[in-house]
Amino acid sequence: MRLLRFMLTLVLAGSTSLAVAADAPKKATTIDELAKMFDSTGCKECHQEIYAQWEKSHHARPFMGVAGGMMLTPVVTDSAFKIEKSEQATLKTFPCFKCHLPQATRWAEDSVAQELAAALMANPQDKAKVAKLQITCLVCHSEKAIAHRLKDGNPEPGVVYGSKEGAHDSKTHPKMKKSVIMKQAIFCGQCHGTGPNFEFDYPVQCATLYGSYQHNYLPGGGQKSCQECHMAKTKEGFADHLIAPNFDDKEATAALMAKSVHLTVDTLGYQWLRKAKTYTPKIVVNTKITHDAGHRIPDG
Ligand code: HEC
Ligand code: HEC
Ligand code: HEC
Ligand code: HEC
Ligand code: HEC
Repeated sequence: MRLLRFMLTLVLAGSTSLAVAADAPKKATTIDELAKMFDSTGCKECHQEIYAQWEKSHHARPFMGVAGGMMLTPVVTDSAFKIEKSEQATLKTFPCFKCHLPQATRWAEDSVAQELAAALMANPQDKAKVAKLQITCLVCHSEKAIAHRLKDGNPEPGVVYGSKEGAHDSKTHPKMKKSVIMKQAIFCGQCHGTGPNFEFDYPVQCATLYGSYQHNYLPGGGQKSCQECHMAKTKEGFADHLIAPNFDDKEATAALMAKSVHLTVDTLGYQWLRKAKTYTPKIVVNTKITHDAGHRIPDG
């Protein structure tokens, strides 16, 4: 009897996983399809303040560079991942997707990489198309909300992950679930890097800031999370989704730097009395630059 029940469980388990595979959403074949899968424009209606901050943030323009610098251009034209024709592009020729567009690694076909390469190689470049690829609300509040997928499973469709469980007043995402990592540094660490990315056939290194946080700030007695420093509640009462610095806003970046980088100068003026009646003025200047960030700056 017990054996029979065991076999029945196996059969049932088999059939559910088959059913899941059949129902599993198809991967995106175009940039528009991928953008639609993670489209977060609907969140604006109810989360206006957060949306307005996010729109100005670097997360909303992960391929546009600082001051519209189109940072993927050298990848296709002048790097180890260089291609002659856009048709040669694959997800692998854009290792940058790992952190700049993580949803592509799980949800895009190679044809998305080809379309992106074509947009970058066109003359003039199709910037509007590249700009559609963003780290949207759903990339953080769904795709990257679960780290231990082997045990905790993949994020579920129709759910936004945050700090609580319950019904969510949204037609597309009617449920809220708790993400255990959302308020932890490791959440940001998924993309903010520890060192060279050795899993690629040609390792690349970009952001390494999470490594600095873990290996220098924490052992030095630092106690704050990334969120506590970067997402403190604004006067409207919500976690700040601008996640400054915004390097395109020079004034605000300079103000943040003035507040968080300190220069102390100690001077000692004296006269060097080497010989009678000669008074050579001398000065010793000691300078020390310190900062309040939870990691080295600048990063990368
Ligand atoms: C029709 C209005 C509405 C829409 C649309 C909507 N939300 Fe919400 N959302 C709310 C309300 C109201 C709450 C607060 C629920 C509560 O506290 O019980 C909430 C809560 C949340 C939370 C949980 C916050 C926490 O404290 O942990 C997250 C995350 C969230 N929304 C993300 C999103 C995202 C992402 C979208 C777009 C895909 C979205 N919401 C669309 C109304 C909406
Ligand atoms: C390990 C994750 C990771 C990988 C892989 C990665 N990046 Fe980055 N990159 C980041 C993060 C996070 C930032 C922003 C934070 C920072 O600079 O510390 C960033 C910032 C940048 C910047 C500076 C900001 C800007 O928009 O001008 C450039 C340029 C850049 N990346 C290009 C690339 C390119 C090109 C690739 C692929 C060859 C790549 N990155 C791969 C995580 C990564
Ligand atoms: C899905 C990956 C991802 C996650 C998760 C993520 N970031 Fe980023 N972040 C990036 C990328 C990529 C950039 C660079 C975008 C660009 O090219 O300008 C960036 C830019 C930034 C910047 C602007 C400075 C810069 O160099 O561009 C700050 C500050 C930042 N992130 C902080 C955080 C914090 C704090 C968290 C956690 C609450 C977080 N990020 C979570 C990928 C991510
Ligand atoms: C880079 C990742 C990232 C992106 C992009 C992002 N969020 Fe968040 N969000 C977070 C994190 C982390 C927290 C928790 C912050 C905390 O509690 O300190 C959070 C908190 C929230 C909360 C709860 C806020 C509060 O203070 O009660 C809501 C609601 C929310 N996000 C909605 C959104 C919406 C809507 C968007 C898109 C416009 C968005 N988020 C984009 C990472 C992100
Ligand atoms: C103790 C507060 C604190 C903590 C903790 C902290 N940061 Fe920062 N971070 C700052 C300050 C302050 C700056 C701005 C420095 C400046 O003026 O350029 C900064 C700058 C940055 C930048 C821009 C880097 C650059 O190249 O200029 C990124 C990206 C960033 N932080 C991400 C993170 C992430 C991710 C974490 C967690 C792993 C984190 N921070 C933890 C305070 C903090």
